[in-house]
Amino acid sequence: MKTKQRIFLIGFMGSGKSTLGNELANQLNYKYIDTDAWIEENEKRKISEIFETSGEDYFRKKEREALLSVIQKERIVIATGGGLPCFFDNMKIITNNGTSFFLEIQPEDLLERLKGETNHRPLLSEKKETELLEWMEYKLNERNVFYSNADYTINGNLPVDSLIHEIVKKIHV
Ligand code: S3P
Repeated sequence: MKTKQRIFLIGFMGSGKSTLGNELANQLNYKYIDTDAWIEENEKRKISEIFETSGEDYFRKKEREALLSVIQKERIVIATGGGLPCFFDNMKIITNNGTSFFLEIQPEDLLERLKGETNHRPLLSEKKETELLEWMEYKLNERNVFYSNADYTINGNLPVDSLIHEIVKKIHV
């Protein structure tokens, strides 16, 4: 059921979903869950290890399981992995089962945020810094098709407090 009591934060890695999600959940007195953390806990291993030993397809299936599990909960803020909305019909499940916010950030700003931490991010670990911007522009283009189905698009460069204010205004809680 589409509800305001289930808030999805979607967007590219590095867009600030976890920081915002934690803070928003605190302020609303909602639970907070990060689908990556759900998977790591469920699998008892790190995302990077899952990619390395079981492959991306396996990881995407686990993301789907995480999504189907979190939509059973209410009064919850859910930060999804950057790729989650872009596989299977996950984005449809998101929009049907909660209020979704896409944290939009331009590739140049994402590059600044991500270039120092490519090691533990499986999709970035093989890339040279010079390739990163081009890859991100390409990926964002591809993923925006899914992200743009969110109920609301918000500017990920705004301070967390302003984003929370904007979200709370939209959901009227
Ligand atoms: C991924 C983003 C990561 C994580 C995995 C794959 C992606 O999550 O799920 O490394 O495909 O963009 P964050 O967006 O939380 O970094």
